[in-house]
Amino acid sequence: MMEIFKTIRKDIEAETLDSADAIDAFRIRYLSKKQGKITDLVKGIKDVPPDERGAYGQGVNELKKLASDRIEKAKTDLGSSDSNHRDVDLSLPGRAPKLGSLHPVTQTRRLINRIFESYGFTVEEGPEIEDDWHNFSALNFPADHPARDMQDTFFIEPTDLEHGGIMLRTHTSPVQIRVMKDGKPPFRLIAPGRVFRNESISFKSYCLFHQVEGLVVDEGVTMADLKQILHSFAQAIFGDDVRMRFRPSFFPFTEPSAEVDIWWTDESLADGGRWLEILGCGMVDPNVLEAVDIDSEKYTGYAFGMGIDRIAMLRYGIDDIRILFENDERFLDQFA
Ligand code: DAH
Repeated sequence: MMEIFKTIRKDIEAETLDSADAIDAFRIRYLSKKQGKITDLVKGIKDVPPDERGAYGQGVNELKKLASDRIEKAKTDLGSSDSNHRDVDLSLPGRAPKLGSLHPVTQTRRLINRIFESYGFTVEEGPEIEDDWHNFSALNFPADHPARDMQDTFFIEPTDLEHGGIMLRTHTSPVQIRVMKDGKPPFRLIAPGRVFRNESISFKSYCLFHQVEGLVVDEGVTMADLKQILHSFAQAIFGDDVRMRFRPSFFPFTEPSAEVDIWWTDESLADGGRWLEILGCGMVDPNVLEAVDIDSEKYTGYAFGMGIDRIAMLRYGIDDIRILFENDERFLDQFA
């Protein structure tokens, strides 16, 4: 009887278990319920004389354990050899990670920041959700100014004349108010950021865009200072031979006010180019200074505001503003 145990033990030890199929065949050969050699031994216990059954049972159990241990070990060996050797080909060339790129608006904003920082301006920020006082009233907008209309402004809480409303800021000018209210002159800052307008969407306007506000307040600041700084700025962005002009305009928060155009060369046009508006500016209206408790007899200032998207479009020759907001990789990849 013990002879058969020895034979089976030898057989089990001699098996080669180097594949999932081999392990499976092994399990069937020794342990399957119908035909397994060890299972047969278990069934045979009924023919064993009672006083030998203890030793017999022990022998069967040892074989069972031996067979299961071999299966477990073979599985582990197979698993680890899988990950260590089979799937990793060390001779393959490395994979270069795909690098993203800065959005053209971000690149342009950073360029504008760098230029003004080189003139000694600080960079300030304000909230995108504003109240009526910062966005309109303190900037000298009359109560019935059309910009306060639902047509232009995304209101969160509509304006009532007593308390004012809450809205998405329609421009970056309220940052002027926040900075002046919190500090003391002199001020010399720019404030880049997102602004929102309830406009019909087209190739030239979108409900969301980017502006940079500029503000300088000190004793004896004049319009000549404004013209000088904007001329240097236009040269830094568009080149030393840029042509620019100041055209009289109107904004509630500046007096006098101007718009600045640059000459855009385009040989396909009859005149060889055309004037393009790039920003609004002016001398800070005394009413604005008084609204933030600055003595307008002692201090004067200038302010300006420009669209970053507009300047990005000019720099890169983009003719539809909407593409700046679509996150289409085929477009963005070109700015890497
Ligand atoms: N806030 C104006 C706008 O959104 C832009 C602007 C014009 C800002 C003139 C200024 C300024 O500071 O002086 O259209």
